[in-house]
Amino acid sequence: MACHGGDGAGRPGAFPPLEGHVSELLGRDGGREYLLDVVLNGVSGPTEIDDEVYDGFMPGFRQLSDEEIAALMNYLSQAWGNSEALPADFELVTAEEVAERRSRELTPRAVGESQPR
Ligand code: HEM
Repeated sequence: MACHGGDGAGRPGAFPPLEGHVSELLGRDGGREYLLDVVLNGVSGPTEIDDEVYDGFMPGFRQLSDEEIAALMNYLSQAWGNSEALPADFELVTAEEVAERRSRELTPRAVGESQPR
C-alpha cells in the first residue's frame, strides 16, 4: 500500500504498477518464481516495467511467514482485475512453494537482473 498504492496503480517514475503487471509477469516463463524472489528479497533497478524504467529500491519481506507470502501472492494474482489476465494453467501459490524459494538468498540487484523478459 505505502508504495504501490491501495489500487495497485503505483506512482509513475517511482513505484511500478501491480495492477496488470502481476498477471503479465505470471504469464512469462519464470515469472512466478521471479515474483516470489521480488517479495522475499526485494528488487532494485534499473528494471523495465510497462515500457518505463524504474531505478529504485524495494525491500524484501522475509520477515513474513511462508503462509503469509503465499496469501499475499494469491491476493496480488486476483486483485485489480489481475484475475482476468492470468495464464490458463495458473494455480494458487502454496506455502511449500514459498519455503522452497526462500532457500535462495539473492540481493535486490541480482533479482532485478533476473527479471524474465
Ligand atoms: C509486500 C509488498 C510488495 C509487493 C508484493 C511488491 C511487488 C513489486 C513488484 C511485483 C515489482 C516489479 C518487479 C518487476 O517487474 O521487475 C516491484 C517493484 C518495486 N517495488 Fe514493490 N512490492 C511491495 C512492497 C514495496 C514497498 C513497501 C516499496 C517501497 C518501499 C516498494 C517499492 C518498489 C520499487 C521502488 C520497485 C521498482 C524497483 C526497481 O527499480 O527495479 N515495494 N514491487
